[in-house]
Amino acid sequence: MTKVWNIAVIGAGDMGRQHVKGWQLAGHQVVSVTDVDQGRAEALAQAFQVPGVYTDYQESIPQGNVDIVSICLPLPLHREVTVFAANQGKHIFCEKPLTRSLEDADAMEKAVTEAGVQFGLGLQRNLSQGVLAARALVQSGRLGRPVLFACDSIAEIRPKRIMHDANGNMGPLMDLGCHYYMMWQTVFNSSPKTVYAQGRVLARERRELSHIEELAIDSAVVTVEYESGDIGTFTVSWGMPPQTKLRGHQDRILGPRGGAEGGFNANPSKITVYEEDGVEEVPLHVYPSLHQEQFQLFVQSIEQQGAASAGFQAGRDVLTLTLAIFKSIETGEAIDFERFSRELSA
Ligand SMILES: NC(=O)c1ccc[n+]([C@@H]2O[C@H](COP(=O)([O-])OP(=O)(O)OC[C@H]3O[C@@H](n4cnc5c(N)ncnc54)[C@H](O)[C@@H]3O)[C@@H](O)[C@H]2O)c1
Repeated sequence: MTKVWNIAVIGAGDMGRQHVKGWQLAGHQVVSVTDVDQGRAEALAQAFQVPGVYTDYQESIPQGNVDIVSICLPLPLHREVTVFAANQGKHIFCEKPLTRSLEDADAMEKAVTEAGVQFGLGLQRNLSQGVLAARALVQSGRLGRPVLFACDSIAEIRPKRIMHDANGNMGPLMDLGCHYYMMWQTVFNSSPKTVYAQGRVLARERRELSHIEELAIDSAVVTVEYESGDIGTFTVSWGMPPQTKLRGHQDRILGPRGGAEGGFNANPSKITVYEEDGVEEVPLHVYPSLHQEQFQLFVQSIEQQGAASAGFQAGRDVLTLTLAIFKSIETGEAIDFERFSRELSA
């Protein structure tokens, strides 16, 4: 590391806390925390000895001592804060998902490119050693090819209600799915070919969500066929009753010669590989903090003027797949991904 960079963290919720911690662990200096909820910003700043507290990002971001803006805000704000920060000449690290539409992504990328700053996206789960191990397993042919990669995530209705808002964070297919879509792309080293999904709103009658005008799909089964012939499936629900004891099962990869299971993108300490009739537990390095790891890589990308480990390309890839999933649910049809992408960006 050649320099201690100065960071302004925008948003003092759960991710704001992870970012402050991660930046400090990576050896950099968080100079301010901003949140419309002043009490929240103050509490976070105090917990990590951050000197500056703001309630308005338009005040904190332009400060002369800010090099990097770390955005931990609800999805609908990613575009406006990224564009504002780029216009101020600041590097930007933004939480996933990139944004809600390709039009937003275009506006963000244009601002970043014109400002000549670096942009990174918070897909830290893809840095897990489990993802690399899965990629090596599949790419080496050890399990044979093609493979089926079955992922599963089950949760009670989300305490952060904006997660359920179709005009907010857009439900799990947008908010959570991005980690899985990124992982499939990495492990298969391929692009989607055909997308088919069915979705429902299981929490429609929940009174906790009655204030939301348009509920996002909270439960779905997604199947994505890749050009490589591999298949990713994602069964997800955020529609379970509060306090449910039901949990998702571990992710599984199934191939002609065996399979593997584990929490591949959850910074796992091991995965289990089943090859022919054998079973092997593969121990993996657990990162103390994937956020620390992603921030170190981001700073390297600035200092070496290289590409960020995840940026606009990754953000657009997963956004396009998310939109294809929504389209399939809306139409009830399988989506030809190549044609869908072409039409979307036309
Ligand atoms: N990378 C990951 O694994 C991961 C995990 C969880 C969330 N996220 C992402 O992080 C982002 C934030 O999620 P979160 O869970 O921290 O949400 P959160 O609700 O805990 O925090 C968001 C904060 O933003 C503040 N805020 C809202 N509008 C603001 C504004 N105009 N100016 C300043 N502050 C404002 C809120 O008061 C709140 O404190 C989302 O994009 C989410 O998808 C990423």
